[in-house]
Amino acid sequence: MNAITKGISPFYPGQPVPVELFVGRQKEIEKISRAVKQVEHGKPQALFLTGEYGIGKSSLAGFMRSYAEKENHLFGIHVFLGGATTIEDVAIKTVEAVLKTPAYEPTLMGKVRNALSKYIGKQELFGVQINFEALKADSPNISHGYLPFLRELLERLKDEGIKGIMLVLDEINGISSNPTFAHFIKGLVDENALSPHPLPLMLMLCGVEERRREMIQHHQPVERIFDIVEINPMANAEMKDFFSKAFRSQNIKINKNALEQLCHYSAGFPKIMHIVGDATFWIDQDGIIDDDDALKGIILAAEDIGRKFVDQQVLRALRSKDYHSIMEKMGKSPFDLSFQKTDIEKGLSYPEKKKFNNFLQRLKKLKVLRSGDIHGEYVFNSRLVRLYILLNAIKKDTPH
Ligand SMILES: Nc1ncnc2c1ncn2[C@@H]1O[C@H](COP(=O)(O)OP(=O)(O)OP(=O)(O)O)[C@@H](O)[C@H]1O
Ligand SMILES: [Mg+2]
Repeated sequence: MNAITKGISPFYPGQPVPVELFVGRQKEIEKISRAVKQVEHGKPQALFLTGEYGIGKSSLAGFMRSYAEKENHLFGIHVFLGGATTIEDVAIKTVEAVLKTPAYEPTLMGKVRNALSKYIGKQELFGVQINFEALKADSPNISHGYLPFLRELLERLKDEGIKGIMLVLDEINGISSNPTFAHFIKGLVDENALSPHPLPLMLMLCGVEERRREMIQHHQPVERIFDIVEINPMANAEMKDFFSKAFRSQNIKINKNALEQLCHYSAGFPKIMHIVGDATFWIDQDGIIDDDDALKGIILAAEDIGRKFVDQQVLRALRSKDYHSIMEKMGKSPFDLSFQKTDIEKGLSYPEKKKFNNFLQRLKKLKVLRSGDIHGEYVFNSRLVRLYILLNAIKKDTPH
């Protein structure tokens, strides 16, 4: 095999993972599927999926949506609210998501399109074209009558055996800063709970913990409506499973040590797994990932992340010369992910020492470091970022 005849990369950096390549998350899946089952039996549920950036919130939501459709006869709507700032935007994006949903059951999509025909422009060969003017004009009505809108949709689908709706509101970063969003969500849940026949609705919000806090700040009672599902870094077995599955899907073999290395550097972060996996996939020339391919892939991935994240966000934020020289000294110290503040301090000059504390606080704020369990201990959040800083420091030493 050579690079030119390579198939499709089974890695999806920057996109939710397709259901076939989804791995792990057993505990979370069980928790959510219990809630989904309740909805199937008619009881509304509300979940908040939290976890840091890139940990796999959208992927898990997408996986559960397809699970709920197949196993529990719910109709799934996954709304990406990025760019939405008002409740009218939420309404518009909801209708869009309903119409643009890939037809998992063609008969369902026919009914959905009939129900929302006034928002459809001319029919295209693939999918639908949305009539944005009509949709925009109607968006205040839809947003005020959001629950009736969902109810009507379900009514249309009941003949097809659909028992309820799973509504995922994802990428709430922008909208959650608008105080009306917290009120809107609380209103939706309460209105439904108090109605004589509650709509079987699985409401799922996805966002980092700060967003949930922000909503609670805007409207305290939001705290009580959600069950929280927290997504944590993946276990080693889950990562192994992922790489094996992904490479196997393209008939590529991987040796044991190379697999360990890819897992080691991904350090539980699904986002990094995809970046490292993709780099390795393109480096491999013979359909077998060996130690050398893995190492090159890891370095390539570290440089990629380093250029995008460390250079653009971290080094720019730390402009002073002292900060950069502290960074180099820290980079070259022989530790894996965590270090003691006092150990690094020993090798610093007097002016560097004076700035060291500030330096650490700023790296914490930039999410490069976090505090460890022991007093004075700091831990790198990403092993690839740690590697990049080391590579950079070494590079500065080697004359060109
Ligand atoms: N369970 C999983 N199995 C395989 N890959 C996954 C899994 N979960 C997430 N990923 C991959 O990890 C990356 C990040 O996932 P995703 O976009 O779902 O995270 P997120 O928490 O929604 O991120 P953001 O905070 O940026 O919205 C993607 O490349 C995705 O394909
Ligand atoms: Mg996401």
